[in-house]
Amino acid sequence: MKHFTSVKDVENIDKLVQDALELKSDPLKYQHLGTGKTMGIIFLNPSLRTRLSTQKAARNLGMDVMVMNFTGEGWNLETQDGVIMDGGSQEHIKEAAAVIGQYCDVIGIRSFPSFESREEDYNEKILNDFIKYAGCPVVSLESATLHPLQSLADIITIEELKKEGKKPKVVLSWAPHPRRLPQAVANSFAQWMNEVDVDLVITHPEGYDLSPEFVGHAEVTNNQDEALKDADFVYVKNWSTYEPYGEIKSQDASWQITKEKMDLTNDGKFMHCLPVRRNVIVSDEVLDSDSSVVIQEAGNREWSASAVLKQILEQ
Ligand code: CP
Repeated sequence: MKHFTSVKDVENIDKLVQDALELKSDPLKYQHLGTGKTMGIIFLNPSLRTRLSTQKAARNLGMDVMVMNFTGEGWNLETQDGVIMDGGSQEHIKEAAAVIGQYCDVIGIRSFPSFESREEDYNEKILNDFIKYAGCPVVSLESATLHPLQSLADIITIEELKKEGKKPKVVLSWAPHPRRLPQAVANSFAQWMNEVDVDLVITHPEGYDLSPEFVGHAEVTNNQDEALKDADFVYVKNWSTYEPYGEIKSQDASWQITKEKMDLTNDGKFMHCLPVRRNVIVSDEVLDSDSSVVIQEAGNREWSASAVLKQILEQ
């Protein structure tokens, strides 16, 4: 694996999941791979899980790790080409990425969408500029449109919990949120689920259709109760609208995941990438119940990052 920006960078998902499970059972087995190598972890946005799990994964593989938060610590980055930099940006991404690449063997970067332009966000300019100018492998720590390390952790969790001999029914459900959120987690989850052996149903209120590029062959319905019937896994996330881009069209509290909703499922597991707003996205009763697997899911972020870094270091 050269870079890790989406499921399209993965040659064999089953092998990647098996690598993750092997590393989970023996975290230091491949410590020799990263000896003498450095990972730079760059955040343009906040993080808890990605920040800690990626550092832990890199260290387990023997790498040295440097973390830099651009918000507040780095120079303000200019991302547009050909501009006169007489405003608030002191450093262009071309130099910043190239310089960081001199110090690192692998770079991880988190860059959320700006929501100024759908075209610009969906072109993934910041992530692609790092790939273009850094000169070393780049791992997405959540980009404008995708969160592949999260999706891999989600697949590992489903693999661990799925019932033997049954193709799982997996439901991706929108839930309300007071702020405008990216489509990245939902896009990425749908994209990965389209590549594995599950029945995928996506449910959301009218107007919240995801980009068809990521919906793939999923069944889509605006009837959440219908979607939840017999679900084995309920993956919940808010996202803002794709068309028109980045709007909040609904705050309908009836889309919150409650015990009554989970009772419609096949003893389904509740999944969420975290952080989650209690009693907005999901009720306390569900989040604190045995059906919630969010902590196991977050724990698997370490093994998804480990598996990806292992395959990059093996190149
Ligand atoms: N799920 C996830 O990416 O969490 P953080 O934003 O805290 O890293």
